[in-house]
Amino acid sequence: MKLLKKGAEADIYLTKWNNSNAILKIRKSKEYRNSVLDSKIRKQRTIRESQILSEVKSFGISSPLVYYVNLKKSEIIMQEIPGIPVHDLTESKIVKKSMEIGKLVGIMHQNGIMHGDLTTSNFILYKNKIYVIDFGLSQKTNKPEDHAVDLRLIKEILNSAHAKIMESSWNNFLLGYKSIVGNSQLSKITNLVSSIESRGRYAAVI
Ligand SMILES: Nc1ncnc2c1ncn2[C@@H]1O[C@H](COP(=O)(O)OP(=O)(O)O)[C@@H](O)[C@H]1O
Ligand SMILES: [Mg+2]
Repeated sequence: MKLLKKGAEADIYLTKWNNSNAILKIRKSKEYRNSVLDSKIRKQRTIRESQILSEVKSFGISSPLVYYVNLKKSEIIMQEIPGIPVHDLTESKIVKKSMEIGKLVGIMHQNGIMHGDLTTSNFILYKNKIYVIDFGLSQKTNKPEDHAVDLRLIKEILNSAHAKIMESSWNNFLLGYKSIVGNSQLSKITNLVSSIESRGRYAAVI
């Protein structure tokens, strides 16, 4: 088995499932966490991830198929999406794809799912389609405040990892998001994003 990525939370291996390439995601234990709490968290995130990976398909989001789940080992085996993470695309492509990412996030929110870790590495472009991955921190929620937390994070990621294209990609993201949730919901959520940001600034000053 080939180790593809060593993440902060999980290790990702390339493996086989019925002769197809597959991804094995194993959540590792964290030494600093109490061991009972640690296994609870890993199990919970494994359950959450495998459930939501499947659930989002019902409203048209593309995501890897879940092949196998082992809760004791905090393992998921899923379809490999052999594309390119949006994070690694050229800047002009990221700008272009931001509108579709905004739409996908709008669709998730409209269906009561907060992703919880909206980074450009968690979207994979494959055969001109964008797949969404990494649902371990997702939540079922219709609360505008929770949806605003999602937008705040992706905005922050665009700002830090893709600073040169921040404005155009953020604008495109918002256009896509608006096309799904509508004007008044967009204003509600972006106002909440602004208030999270101003609290952040205030906290940084004192
Ligand atoms: N199903 C998949 N197909 C292809 N690549 C994947 C898949 N799942 C994960 N990866 C790759 O591994 C990286 C880390 O996986 P991810 O599920 O996002 O874990 P983490 O919680 O560590 O961010 C992704 O950014 C992607 O590059
Ligand atoms: Mg990830």
